[in-house]
Amino acid sequence: MASSPLRRRHRAKRIAIFNHKGGVGKTTLTLNVAAALGSLGKGVLLVDSDPQCNLTSYLLEDKVVDNLLDQSDGPNGETLWSAVKPIVEAEGDIKLIPSKELSVPNLHLLPGDIRLSDFESELNQLWADCLQRKVKGFRGTAALSAVVNDVAEALDVDFVFFDSGPNIGPLNRSILLDCDYLIVPAACDVFSVRALKTLGHTLATWIQDWQTILALAPDQVYRIPGRPTVMGSLMWKFHSSRSQCRYRATLWKRSSRSRKEATIAPR
Ligand SMILES: Nc1ncnc2c1ncn2[C@@H]1O[C@H](COP(=O)(O)OP(=O)(O)OP(=O)(O)O)[C@@H](O)[C@H]1O
Ligand SMILES: [Mg+2]
Repeated sequence: MASSPLRRRHRAKRIAIFNHKGGVGKTTLTLNVAAALGSLGKGVLLVDSDPQCNLTSYLLEDKVVDNLLDQSDGPNGETLWSAVKPIVEAEGDIKLIPSKELSVPNLHLLPGDIRLSDFESELNQLWADCLQRKVKGFRGTAALSAVVNDVAEALDVDFVFFDSGPNIGPLNRSILLDCDYLIVPAACDVFSVRALKTLGHTLATWIQDWQTILALAPDQVYRIPGRPTVMGSLMWKFHSSRSQCRYRATLWKRSSRSRKEATIAPR
């Protein structure tokens, strides 16, 4: 697709359900929230931006996924990699790819690709190019956003959900900075709680750095906005009765004098 300096951000709200901790239910939650919105009549575009392609594998038949991945590097490619490949190979602007129709009402999928890791390895250089006010830096950093924008526009969906891999890398940086909202799923364990702190710190730095870079952006270039609102965290693997026990135990230690205080239920 030809570059368009007039590309406007589509109205669909872009949401990432993200935590860099692995296995905390990002993919499962993304799919279920999207399906619930679909059943309410809202149009949802699911973007599998995780090179593991779990969401794609979950939603499409194995042979369809195999075919998509076999073809994705060629001229008939229809994955996210096929769409951003011209940017990575400096051959031009993004290529428009079709979304996949799903059996779930009102849901559409942009399929993931293991080759997205090739795109990721370009993104640090593209970020540095932005600092030098190079248009290619801004176009590259916003490439995935532009792909999503064109498909969201064509389908006129209400929501876009990104399903991302478990890491704090340049691919997830450009995705989170493209989102309007971020929801952080976390399991009730010490590692997940620690991950919340790291993510908060990293996100704040990314937002600040990107706002500095945006001040350098040339006019008429499509760019990611870089101001995601954190809607909150969503805890799971939470057992209310056990948690009450643990809470009680804590109180017993801190205040062994008062049995009454020790039986207060958790909030
Ligand atoms: N609410 C839930 N109740 C029970 N099991 C769940 C729930 N959510 C997710 N799981 C299970 O937890 C495992 C990890 O879930 P999922 O793949 O969604 O996590 P993820 O954060 O996307 O992982 P990754 O970081 O590898 O992308 C899966 O086996 C999934 O079936
Ligand atoms: Mg996942």
